[in-house]
Amino acid sequence: MRLADKVAIVTGAASGIGRAVADLFAEHGATVYATDLDERDGSERIVSVRQDVSVESEWSALIARIEREQGRLDVLVNNAGIVGSYDSITDVAMADYHRIIAVNQTGFFLGMRCAIPLMQRGGKGSIVNVSSIWGLIGAVGVAAYQASKGAVTTLTKNAALTYAPVIRANSLHPGAILTRIIEKQDHALNQQLIADTPLGRMAEPREVAYAALYLASDESAFVTGAELVIDGGYTIR
Ligand SMILES: NC(=O)c1ccc[n+]([C@@H]2O[C@H](COP(=O)([O-])OP(=O)(O)OC[C@H]3O[C@@H](n4cnc5c(N)ncnc54)[C@H](O)[C@@H]3O)[C@@H](O)[C@H]2O)c1
Repeated sequence: MRLADKVAIVTGAASGIGRAVADLFAEHGATVYATDLDERDGSERIVSVRQDVSVESEWSALIARIEREQGRLDVLVNNAGIVGSYDSITDVAMADYHRIIAVNQTGFFLGMRCAIPLMQRGGKGSIVNVSSIWGLIGAVGVAAYQASKGAVTTLTKNAALTYAPVIRANSLHPGAILTRIIEKQDHALNQQLIADTPLGRMAEPREVAYAALYLASDESAFVTGAELVIDGGYTIR
């Protein structure tokens, strides 16, 4: 029960990493507002909410509902994201670029913008932003995704500095995790990712969820502005 009585939002919680985070948080005693474009199964501790993270009014409505129902918010996990395009800077369609930025970057910005005042009113809060290894180092192509994830890395540090000591903000940087993103990806690219990962495999979503659990809980009370990398060693070199 590492999150006993905490109230949390987890976005992108219908599948993959977000789903695993929401399930693990609920197992550890949190009440979780599990948001996604898609509906998911609820439970005693998991409230399924339909939300497009790129729309500010949907964030305002969610925060107002949580204030009404719970009176406070302890944890925000910004996780909902899309790869959207593997194209380079010169090739990516601008419509794709804008959609990827809207979800992966503006969506995270809006989440913090709307959640922080409620956290401040409660006197405490932990924000966990799911960036990527591609928010730390370069890749070939995937230009819009890299732009969005790099922004998440620095915006997390901005929030950590601006809202300390009341709010902590940290970023997570997964490598290759077995979710729909990987399933949809080119087989040869996936094989290359495994070959370049010292631990020689991809990870299950729950292996990322445990890192989110640590950052969300009071166990990480002195940790803010950190980049927690969960990549089997991919970025060591
Ligand atoms: N899987 C990986 O290898 C990997 C690696 C690094 C980072 N990540 C990041 O982890 C996060 C989760 O991805 P995943 O791998 O679990 O993928 P996933 O596709 O399984 O889950 C993403 C979820 O986000 C939801 N979503 C997409 N757009 C949304 C929107 N506008 N509003 C609300 N929900 C929306 C989807 O419906 C889906 O349920 C993403 O931010 C992704 O960039 C994943």
